Amino acid sequence: MTENIYETEKLVSEYLLFHYGTAEQVLGWEEGPVSALGFPERIVKRFSEGRVARALDLGCAVGRSSWEMSRDADEVLGIDFSQAFVDAAEEIGRAGKATARRLEEAALATEVEVSLPEGVGEAVFEQGDAMNLRDDLGDFDRVLAANLLCRLGDPGKLLERLPDLVKSGGELVLTTPCTWLEEFTPPENWPEAGTLEWLKGELGGDFELLEQHDEPFLIRETARKFQWTVALLTKWRRR
Ligand SMILES: C[S@@+](CC[C@H](N)C(=O)[O-])C[C@H]1O[C@@H](n2cnc3c(N)ncnc32)[C@H](O)[C@@H]1O
Repeated sequence: MTENIYETEKLVSEYLLFHYGTAEQVLGWEEGPVSALGFPERIVKRFSEGRVARALDLGCAVGRSSWEMSRDADEVLGIDFSQAFVDAAEEIGRAGKATARRLEEAALATEVEVSLPEGVGEAVFEQGDAMNLRDDLGDFDRVLAANLLCRLGDPGKLLERLPDLVKSGGELVLTTPCTWLEEFTPPENWPEAGTLEWLKGELGGDFELLEQHDEPFLIRETARKFQWTVALLTKWRRR
């Protein structure tokens, strides 16, 4: 069986830095793409203002967006397939900080301490499969699935479940870099006419499309190499 890269120590560190690192810890180049920093926090601000009862973060990774959702929700659940990511999300919640091994070049790395931001509420995390979620999750006022769809073998299964997961009048925020790769999704499950048209077709009956935006994000690989990517963000209201 091929290794799940999201279970590796390398990716846990990369995502701790991506989610919780300061601008200096992540980028360190003044002329770099600073507007791409803070993605996990920025996308949560796309939900409408106000306090809600229940929020769900699917494919939560090491949890930053879940913690951001907890500022305005009584109950937050983060679900990820990677047990290592779930453990890291819980640990930073418990300790308020975590250590990331930041790769500089070759085998050279520095240890960087990252922190849980001030003022967050409560969040719980569990391992789970977004294509086969447990039946008793209930429904939510807010559901986020950030950069998850094109990492699923059969993303249609998640889209089919979403109408049950979002309360009538509740909001759904999806982001995806539309990076469809055979190693995650067999080509027969790639959107034929483009990701946006596919989402409109699959979700349009149950959800009203409220907004769409381009949201850049930056993942540091080494001191001198970064992934600069632009995600397509769509915001929907459950009919
Ligand atoms: C590209 S990362 C995005 C993580 C995070 N939402 C973000 O925006 O930084 C994809 C995430 O989806 C998770 N994932 C992959 N397959 C999954 C599945 N079947 N169910 C739940 N999570 C999954 C991975 O473990 C990883 O955390």
